[in-house]
Amino acid sequence: MRRIDVITLFPEWVESLKGLGVTGRAMAQGTISLHCWNPRDFTEDVHRSVDDRPYGGGPGMVMRPEPLARCIEAVLAEDIAAPVSFLGPQGRVLDHDGVSELAGRARLILLCGRYEGVDERVLQTLVDEEWSIGDYVLSGGEPAAAVVMDAVIRQQPGVLGHEESALRDSFVGGRLDCPHYTRPASWRSRDVPEVLLSGDHARIERWRLAEALHRTRQQRPDLLARYPVSEVERAAAKK
Ligand code: ADE
Repeated sequence: MRRIDVITLFPEWVESLKGLGVTGRAMAQGTISLHCWNPRDFTEDVHRSVDDRPYGGGPGMVMRPEPLARCIEAVLAEDIAAPVSFLGPQGRVLDHDGVSELAGRARLILLCGRYEGVDERVLQTLVDEEWSIGDYVLSGGEPAAAVVMDAVIRQQPGVLGHEESALRDSFVGGRLDCPHYTRPASWRSRDVPEVLLSGDHARIERWRLAEALHRTRQQRPDLLARYPVSEVERAAAKK
């Protein structure tokens, strides 16, 4: 991926990723370019209003269709074509496979709405898919967009310090990550497992795999049911 467009009334939410950590580095080194679009810039009334009361009554405001549609159309007119992804609690729930799917695209277009609602006709005509980051409700799509961006950006080649660290992340291949240790070798009466000090890389790899399988069995048996342990893996963890 080389470009992410975010449509949001609160660009500060996502722009904070520009200066921070892994996402900041990816943007600074030019791997990813981030473009924020504010529907308010596409209003035509003096008040620059982006929302209105819902038809039928009830609490909350609904995002007006016209400024939002114009904003989305302006985004689509730039660069290469890409699906418009709306962030909302009714969408496909994001997991590792979903992140990999999004990370493989050349361009991401993320649409953040306020939770109370976006006029349904915009969703019907200009949005291609909806993604949720979990079964709970956020006040708006911005934190979800930040989550999607972080997860997708760390999968881009060359973004993490060590190329293999994204491959070792939890959930890759349906396994949780193994435990990690740093100096000192003994801390508050707890020792780093001896194998990690052995310098025997093959043994260390077997230990890491066995620990990852053990943790997954303990904490997330549902992952093992979805991604069963292969014979190769079982053998590699035992040797
Ligand atoms: N907007 C409101 N709730 C959300 C959720 N759970 N995931 C993504 N976007 C949202």
